Amino acid sequence: MLAGRDLLGSTGFEFLKEGAHRVFVVTDEVVRATGLVQRVEAGVADGGLAVAGVFDEVPQDSSTHVVDRCAMAAEEAGADSFLAVGGGSVMDTAKLAGVIFTHGGAAAEQEGFLLMPRRDDGMGRPLEIAPLACIPTTAGTGSEVSMAAVVKDPERKVKLEVVDFPLFPRLAILDPESTRTLPPRMAAATGMDAMTHAIEGYTCTDWSPPQDARSLEALRLMRDYFERAVEGGPADEEARGNMLIAASLAITINLGAVHAMSHPAGAHFGVPHGVANSIHLPHVIRFNAEDPETADRYRDLNEVFGLAAGGPGREVGEALAAHVGELAGRLGLPTRLSEAGVPEEGLPALVEGAVGDGATLLNPREAGEDDYAALYERAL
Ligand SMILES: [Fe+2]
Repeated sequence: MLAGRDLLGSTGFEFLKEGAHRVFVVTDEVVRATGLVQRVEAGVADGGLAVAGVFDEVPQDSSTHVVDRCAMAAEEAGADSFLAVGGGSVMDTAKLAGVIFTHGGAAAEQEGFLLMPRRDDGMGRPLEIAPLACIPTTAGTGSEVSMAAVVKDPERKVKLEVVDFPLFPRLAILDPESTRTLPPRMAAATGMDAMTHAIEGYTCTDWSPPQDARSLEALRLMRDYFERAVEGGPADEEARGNMLIAASLAITINLGAVHAMSHPAGAHFGVPHGVANSIHLPHVIRFNAEDPETADRYRDLNEVFGLAAGGPGREVGEALAAHVGELAGRLGLPTRLSEAGVPEEGLPALVEGAVGDGATLLNPREAGEDDYAALYERAL
């Protein structure tokens, strides 16, 4: 991972070290229209690499169909590597397109945890995929440093989650220039996704000391720079750059009930991922704080934010929940599902989705159907 100013011109030089020669650029129309892709292309050429083609058809909420089209376009272009320039949807599309490009098949068949093709050597090691570099244009998803990809499967109405080691991008370039055209509302929503990763990573059943360190440092950076990065806009390069770093630090595949609730909200009603997390986060914190061990973990987070860390667990959870809820309100994000287009009659489908989502297994307090129904009711 490289972080700093004026790094885009070195894209080719850095990506050459990872074995890339004919680069297939994956982006969306909005990012392409800003001129950012042209600057990145110039950086690719500067390192002596060729741009084999540009795929700019990734929608805000990508799908298995888009992945398949992207992989086919890369093959037709004679590419040997992928370069994602965009947000989570673009990066996850490029990751899964790399899998299809390398191993064949279709994106809809890829679902699973550590299920990608393995070497036939009895060691269970996965086969590498075409090199991928990521230049994130939002500070939130952290996909540029993660081994996970999530896209919509329109046929099954679920978010297809794929997790495996080859999905780790070989290179991530965090340059605030890439977020220059990110609108404040998107900066707010994606930042709340990053905050949710930091908090769920710290409190999930699979918490670990390295993740603790990353979560706490990410939350310190968010405390100092999140609102500045939204309100000050692109002109505040220090804040935007530090939010890119915070999002990368916060990333984890170990999540919890917030993500379990947000995935179906996205799959069924198109609620943007960061917005859904922002709405669900305070309700899940209150729910989880009933568990004494989790309340103790929240005390640490309250210390970072300068909130009450003593007293009964319920009060500790309430202080943190109120803090993140008020933050979302100040940032101009919707705080209710009904404001985000979810009708009351949609809740049963969401409950079913949350119960079946992999993230639910790692929530520190067991959450069943009735719990999720109550949480969605509160969030509506
Ligand atoms: Fe997320």
